[in-house]
Amino acid sequence: MNIKNNAVSLILDAKTKEDLDEIKLQFLGKSGTLTTTLKEIARLPLDQRPIIGILANEVKGIIEDAIETSLANFQVKKIEKIKKLDVTEQGIRPTLGHLHPVTQAIEEITNIFEKIGFSRERYPEIEWDWYAFEALNFPANHPARDDWETFFVDQAPDPKKGPALLTPHTSSGQIREMEKGILPIKMLNIAKTYRRQSDVSHVPMFHQFETLVVGENISISHLKGVLDYFVKSYFGEDRVSRIRPYHFQFTEPSFETDVSCGVCNGTTRLANGEVCRLCKEGWLEIGGAGMVHPNVLRSVGLDPEKYSGFASGWGVERVLTMKEGAAIDDIRLLYANKLEFLEQF
Ligand code: DAH
Repeated sequence: MNIKNNAVSLILDAKTKEDLDEIKLQFLGKSGTLTTTLKEIARLPLDQRPIIGILANEVKGIIEDAIETSLANFQVKKIEKIKKLDVTEQGIRPTLGHLHPVTQAIEEITNIFEKIGFSRERYPEIEWDWYAFEALNFPANHPARDDWETFFVDQAPDPKKGPALLTPHTSSGQIREMEKGILPIKMLNIAKTYRRQSDVSHVPMFHQFETLVVGENISISHLKGVLDYFVKSYFGEDRVSRIRPYHFQFTEPSFETDVSCGVCNGTTRLANGEVCRLCKEGWLEIGGAGMVHPNVLRSVGLDPEKYSGFASGWGVERVLTMKEGAAIDDIRLLYANKLEFLEQF
């Protein structure tokens, strides 16, 4: 019968389930070829009707079976496809990221200080004037405040603690730590700091790490010892440190702290006799330090006759770029999100 051959060859050619659905409709649907044929049986002579009827029903069964078999085959092929997945085949290696160099430096610095008993504390990033200046011995309107190029926050000032601002230095953490009233103190405060500045060696948001040690009989030798320990741990055993006099409102005496230059080895000259371009003088400045000012101790209710302390505040980006030598000559590169740059760390 033509209808049967037609249908079966179409079914064998079918590629998808949708193809089969269409064929089913074409032959077995309401106005499908076979259905119409079955309807016409009524017009045949009475004696022929049963023979054609049986035949037509057989064809219907064959088409239905063929469609079902085909469907099952599709299923098998699908499974075979999955089985052919070769798990030993070489994969595509995803690109692996890593921590930002500044984050790496923060982790390294934290480890170095935790080893000698400092504990890392966290304080607010938006701070009151009291913590950033007033309690650190900067009276209102004192010109020394200018050096901190502070961003003020547009918010009602606290009646006692003054205007709100973005912490311009981590030293505000000294006051927060001391007002907890638990002594002795061995604090490490690593945080974001903000100043209105932007050039090759400054960015408006940068990081500082602050140490504060307060107790009885704390002296400059403790400060120098911690500086030496940090310099050797972070920059290398062959590096040496020095302190030299300076001025800060919140320390007395105050110092700048330096590390010997790693490029010229503190000699100011390169092997070829040229002056070292990185340091020019054999030393690189790490940042400020000093003995906590008696007025600062008083501002948190500590008796300066009984307690003393030292503090230091150094730049994370600064020590990081110094460690890498002359390779990073523009600090802004650290925050430019250039992968070619960041991938080197
Ligand atoms: N806060 C100072 C700054 O941002 C750095 C500093 C100097 C911190 C002396 C100290 C210190 O703890 O004793 O420049």
